[in-house]
Amino acid sequence: MDFFDVIQQRQSVRKWQARPVEKEKLNCILEAINRAPSAGNFQAYEVYVVESAERRKQIADATWEQGFIANAPVLLAFCSHPVRCQYAPEPYPLEDTSIACTFAMLAVTALGLGAVWIGAFDPKKIASTMNLPEGQIPVALLPIGYPDEVPERTTRRELADLVHNLN
Ligand SMILES: Cc1cc2nc3c(=O)[nH]c(=O)nc-3n(C[C@H](O)[C@H](O)[C@H](O)COP(=O)(O)O)c2cc1C
Repeated sequence: MDFFDVIQQRQSVRKWQARPVEKEKLNCILEAINRAPSAGNFQAYEVYVVESAERRKQIADATWEQGFIANAPVLLAFCSHPVRCQYAPEPYPLEDTSIACTFAMLAVTALGLGAVWIGAFDPKKIASTMNLPEGQIPVALLPIGYPDEVPERTTRRELADLVHNLN
């Protein structure tokens, strides 16, 4: 798919078919994540692949009533890992993690899959559910699967409102 088609077609998907995500496609998404830029190229984040239904449910239970995420056959959890960044503990690790998740979302779209960025959750509960090592902070969850809905296209601000020409 053309890059700009990917940008235009990406939408948050919150309903998925039970159809599994092929290993090749999952690998393609992980490779895309690994090409994301990061401050100092320190890649100050970790990515967890969660495929077990039981674990997906446990993680979904730690979001604020967003149980629907357990229906996606694959869940990626993006955790910032500040000690990996030799510049400063913040804000770079959070930015690195966000860019990685964005790359994943675009790869998901290009592969005909659907995902939604989940940022509303209890980080402490997620960390304990996932048994995260000390120092890793959950930033985003990305449930991925074949879409089972065509979401309504969301609106955006007018460019004239969003973009400012500073002379
Ligand atoms: C940082 C961030 C956090 C988000 N958290 C949630 C969330 O917890 N639950 C959810 O359903 N959608 C969440 N979203 C998705 C947004 O609601 C969605 O991107 C926005 O409404 C625009 O819709 P679109 O993605 O279809 O263009 C989040 C998106 C971002 C970027």
